[in-house]
Amino acid sequence: MQQENQKQYLWWQDGIIYQVYPRSFQDSNGDGVGDLRGVIQRLDYLKNLGVKAIWLSPIYPSPMADFGYDISDYEGIWPTFGTMADFDELLAKLHAAEMKLILDLVPNHSSDEHPWFRESRSSRDNPKRDWYIWKDARPDGGLPNNWLSVFGGPAWEWDEQTRQYYYHAFLVKQPDLNWRNPAVERAMLDVMKFWLDKGVDGFRVDAMWHMIKDEQWRDNPHNPDYKEWMSTYEQLLPVYSTDQPEMHGIVIKMRKLLDEYDERLMIAEIYLPVHRLVAYYGTHDKEAHLPFNFMLISLPWDSRLIAASIDEYEGALVADDWPNWVVGNHDQPRITSRIGMGQAKVAAMLLLTLRGTPTLYYGDEIGMRDVPIPADEVQDPQGLNMPEKNLSRDPERTPMQWDASTNAGFTAGEPWLRLDRTFRRRNAAIQATTEYSHLCLYQKLIRLRRQESSLMTGAYRPVYSDNQQLAYIREATGQPAFLIVLNLSHRPCYFTPSTIRFTGVIVVDTLPEQEQVSVKDTIGLFGDEGMIVELDDWQPVSANPTTHELSAMP
Ligand code: GLC
Repeated sequence: MQQENQKQYLWWQDGIIYQVYPRSFQDSNGDGVGDLRGVIQRLDYLKNLGVKAIWLSPIYPSPMADFGYDISDYEGIWPTFGTMADFDELLAKLHAAEMKLILDLVPNHSSDEHPWFRESRSSRDNPKRDWYIWKDARPDGGLPNNWLSVFGGPAWEWDEQTRQYYYHAFLVKQPDLNWRNPAVERAMLDVMKFWLDKGVDGFRVDAMWHMIKDEQWRDNPHNPDYKEWMSTYEQLLPVYSTDQPEMHGIVIKMRKLLDEYDERLMIAEIYLPVHRLVAYYGTHDKEAHLPFNFMLISLPWDSRLIAASIDEYEGALVADDWPNWVVGNHDQPRITSRIGMGQAKVAAMLLLTLRGTPTLYYGDEIGMRDVPIPADEVQDPQGLNMPEKNLSRDPERTPMQWDASTNAGFTAGEPWLRLDRTFRRRNAAIQATTEYSHLCLYQKLIRLRRQESSLMTGAYRPVYSDNQQLAYIREATGQPAFLIVLNLSHRPCYFTPSTIRFTGVIVVDTLPEQEQVSVKDTIGLFGDEGMIVELDDWQPVSANPTTHELSAMP
């Protein structure tokens, strides 16, 4: 522990990351779509919130088939978002405010309108043919294998001109690059270098687990757990199309490039079970700094499951692996819509008190909800391609609700996606003046976390969990320790741990009336209540051995 305290932490270890979805954050010119100058206008808000870095979803030129995740020029700015001068200004202003900028890097695929793909598809002997994945039809004319696109339908598209199929893990308009071709690797490392030389502080690497595919192109097996309501992609287990062992060699090279610069960060988007996920930290050589941990998104909101999974994750990390946590992003239903308004506050407390870097999704700090989008207004391709499955991501991408003025202060024009109609009473300006708001809770949690090294970087010690609650201690030597008790249910629960005795004071509570109340050994919690107790004193006491342990005794 002594060593822990003396250790210097890097900005991405003790700071908080905030995801900006640029289309929906702030429009500065009335065209209804957010932009870079809009982000510049809101820097004070972000600074006051206390976040260290912003991650911008893609801002590059794009036909916008997948809202920027289909890139047609990796080294430019989409004109609707602004100019390179706007970008430089944003970066300079962030740095002047001692904040950092993380860009989205999308190396798995480009747009079909990228010049690389245009060349590649022009003829079979074009030098860029092998930059993408081209395969002959099977002898019977069928698809090269059974792989499916994440966004519905097969992952192969027939190109009539050159009479071959190309592979697309996502949309037809997002052909996958061939990462077995060293020229592709060099080109993408050059893209990274371009932005690193400009001074960006890191990348969030999109779809990393998709980048290399099985060399033999074997069929994926059927998923025995598939249910009708699931995405069609989930009919198969993507064991040959994702998470291939060769991926690690590529991540090592990306990391080596980053390490030529000072303190740059690589976050990796990877949806995999814990033990597959942690492999992306690197085993012999360093890989990603933060393979995104989506556990709190993927798991049912069940205290025992979550408690066990936090321990599983903590247990899987080796000394230098830095944990991280996420409860929302632009691809997932918002936390409020998944677990309810009351529990979303408990989730905020969990996110901001666990050990490791939290990433916040814009609007979650004011409790924004998924907005139902009428069928004729759906824009997300995932929603359009599988209309009967309620998989559209538009609901979690609606414009930020800044204030009670027209269009919530997001735009002077017509917003690209409809707003939550309740924005006049649910917005950042109103919440800043209400002690009981989501925003106020986030502010308190962030402030406390930044003041207390136990919460920012201290050790995690599980204390108790049952079918309603979850409790743990965060502690750093020589610093006040904190006990976090969270009721993940709507009914009252009673925290009466048999393993510790403690006295302390509640310093942050989802019910502000409880703050400054002293507590000792047991606590009764309201439904949907979470609290952080600053401990004056605590000791472990030996627990009664369980029946299992008793029967194992001699
Ligand atoms: C990632 C992005 C998602 C995008 C997909 C294809 O999962 O987060 O928004 O649609 O990759 O690029």
